[in-house]
Amino acid sequence: MAKNKLRKFAEMKAWNNVFEPTLDPDTRHDFPLKGKWRSNYFKNDHPIVLELGCGKGEYTTGLARHYPKRNFIGVDIKGARIFVGAKEALDDELTNVAFLRAKIDFIETYFDAGEVDEIWLTFSDPQPAKPRKRLTSEQFINRYRTILKKEGLVHLKTDSDVLFESTEAEIKEHSYQLLELTWDLYKSLPEDLDPTIREILHIKTHYEQLFTAKGSVIKYCSFRIH
Ligand SMILES: C[S@@+](CC[C@H](N)C(=O)[O-])C[C@H]1O[C@@H](n2cnc3c(N)ncnc32)[C@H](O)[C@@H]1O
Repeated sequence: MAKNKLRKFAEMKAWNNVFEPTLDPDTRHDFPLKGKWRSNYFKNDHPIVLELGCGKGEYTTGLARHYPKRNFIGVDIKGARIFVGAKEALDDELTNVAFLRAKIDFIETYFDAGEVDEIWLTFSDPQPAKPRKRLTSEQFINRYRTILKKEGLVHLKTDSDVLFESTEAEIKEHSYQLLELTWDLYKSLPEDLDPTIREILHIKTHYEQLFTAKGSVIKYCSFRIH
């Protein structure tokens, strides 16, 4: 592994806002914060919002600035990406932020039933050849349903036609409650939109910047799965 990555990983071990539970199937079920994120980490009873596949966590830190009375957790398997968001949160003293280095496939291992209020999926891998691995596939939505409160929201922001089309199809097939859906987010925002919501929808992740530079159109939808 590159020296720089090793240095980052070592530095991150000392940070109190990053959790790297074991991936070992025999012991990963003993994650101590499961059901206790509010009482033992955030020390408040505010809602919990996840950014799944957060990369550098632009939505995690961006939303945390807008909503100091909500708690935000970025989840990704790649440590070097989480490093960027976690460092920003420490430098800016964002105490309502944490990062979890883990596989979303085992998300129920890290959160209790109904512990989560909202989920953001930001520029998730479209997985063109492996539909079951898409983060909006039935398999993943069933996992989210376990940890998400009733009435909890799922947001998806993406450049990918494949992912957006298949998500739209899943919403229809399983009768999820669709709240918003646009194939061209920035063109479709109404003039009188709440300024905070406008700013939130304009948060640009690392991948959004890459895709926009190539001319991709950004899509967005939000829905309930209960
Ligand atoms: C295309 S990147 C997007 C990153 C970031 N959200 C952005 O917009 O810049 C997808 C991210 O999802 C993470 N990811 C994909 N599948 C995952 C899984 N099953 N468990 C954990 N992380 C996953 C990858 O490591 C990667 O950082």
